[in-house]
Amino acid sequence: MTYKGRLLLNAPFDWLMNAGFDIITIFPEMFSAYLGESILKRAAQKGLLDVKLFNPRDFTTDKHRTVDDYPYGGGAGMVMKVEPIYKALDSIKADGRDRLTIMMSPQGKQYTQGMAESLSREARRVVIICGRYEGIDERVRESLVDEEISIGDYVLTGGELAALVIIDSVARLVPGVLGDDDSVKEESFSWGLLDYPHYTRPPEFMGMKVPDVLLSGNHKTIWKSRRREAIKRTLLKRPDLLEKVSLSREDIEILNELGSNRNAAESRGEEDESDTCN
Ligand code: ADE
Repeated sequence: MTYKGRLLLNAPFDWLMNAGFDIITIFPEMFSAYLGESILKRAAQKGLLDVKLFNPRDFTTDKHRTVDDYPYGGGAGMVMKVEPIYKALDSIKADGRDRLTIMMSPQGKQYTQGMAESLSREARRVVIICGRYEGIDERVRESLVDEEISIGDYVLTGGELAALVIIDSVARLVPGVLGDDDSVKEESFSWGLLDYPHYTRPPEFMGMKVPDVLLSGNHKTIWKSRRREAIKRTLLKRPDLLEKVSLSREDIEILNELGSNRNAAESRGEEDESDTCN
């Protein structure tokens, strides 16, 4: 597939966009449960998501289907062998199509929403290599991998959960996977801001009321109030994000107002209740 890009979001070829992954894992069953439910299950049924699983054990030649071995130089734990992974990748690439090969690892580049967006526009199928044990033979990273990705500064028992994070975050950006494409555009980080608070019925629960503005039916006022709430949350919880986001003049006015409310509260030695998000 050579078609690329969100620039053509409203073009009649939208339906051509899909996400294709080839996963190399010694635990393929770990994927079946997650991919077999809810939104991702429906995405696969609609042909918007295609995940194929490849077990390195199927590419071994010994009786025990060995995929790991002791580390050269000694040390704790086992290391995943290069050969079964090389052969799995070779069989994936046998169709001659170009692929982007990712390896999940805590040493990789930190995964972000921006990376999910660019993967959702990726024309090539994406191979994800999932490591286990103490790690993977370094020759895999050196010679077979285009990108090494980490989902955060913590160590998991293997790359499977991390690969599912990538699949999930990319699939939901493919047009048609979520019922309403606006929910992708509106939410946290796509705006560059944290999400605004959401409410549903009842309008009052144990004395806690839904803000009046949301019951007003005035869409312009609702939009403005949500934007204000998103800016407020971002300022309080993730001010670092405000340095990267593009803000309108109105947004900057909101920020200045929130900033001055905060300063006034601080100089009174109080917490500014009106602008505190829980
Ligand atoms: N494998 C183990 N820990 C990981 C992490 N934090 N990100 C990606 N892959 C991993």
